[in-house]
Amino acid sequence: MTATDFPATAPARSVRTFHPRRGRMTARQTAALERLWPVHGLDVPDVPGTPVDPARLFPRRAPLVLEIGSGMGDTTAAMAAADPDRDYLAVEVHTPGIANLLDLVERHGLGNVRVARGDALDLVSGLAEASLDAVHVFFPDPWPKSRHHKRRIIQPAHVALLRSRLVPGGTLHCATDWAEYADAMRETLDADPGLVNAHDGFAPRPAHRPVTKFERRALTAGRPVTDLIYRRR
Ligand SMILES: C[S@@+](CC[C@H](N)C(=O)[O-])C[C@H]1O[C@@H](n2cnc3c(N)ncnc32)[C@H](O)[C@@H]1O
Repeated sequence: MTATDFPATAPARSVRTFHPRRGRMTARQTAALERLWPVHGLDVPDVPGTPVDPARLFPRRAPLVLEIGSGMGDTTAAMAAADPDRDYLAVEVHTPGIANLLDLVERHGLGNVRVARGDALDLVSGLAEASLDAVHVFFPDPWPKSRHHKRRIIQPAHVALLRSRLVPGGTLHCATDWAEYADAMRETLDADPGLVNAHDGFAPRPAHRPVTKFERRALTAGRPVTDLIYRRR
């Protein structure tokens, strides 16, 4: 698939956790997408649950971190650069963000990053059980209206799916700047019988999660950021 083949939105499905949105790409992002997608990219299969073998994406076997909704990719790139012994698979639906991450991958010479385009939930359903060392869900769309809560990525059925793909002891790390969502996340994660909170309540802000533009904007707007870190039993 080339950059110009990318559809603006994913095909319709009843409930999606993301806003369909278009976005302009810079010339640099377009070039990065054209050049790097064939090497570092993966299309999430159209049929949810189609097996995806991450071992085929990376030239080595290493613990794998899945970053859901990587946005512009700054966090993925920074964390992967600081953590060379693990591989990072970012999944995003927003093409300019995917292209930006590919550009960062090239600029920083990151051999341990691959980028999937499509719905993270479809991708995860195709991964084998216990195939992930960690799942990162940083600043997921908060869907603040009650009638939209069904779109939230952190909800019981999704959490059960994510947990099943973690190795025992693997971590599910979430961060949000939306206080009510943070409480809802905690309630949902606490209720999952296969997860245990790695901290007593909300986690102290981990130094290894870089501060992104997104987080700075939230802090400037007076929305404190909350981390939640759980381990699979
Ligand atoms: C609010 S942004 C946060 C981006 C990034 N994590 C950050 O911290 O800057 C949420 C992102 O999640 C993506 N997203 C939401 N649901 C998704 C899904 N099911 N699969 C892939 N990406 C998703 C959206 O496209 C959006 O880019």
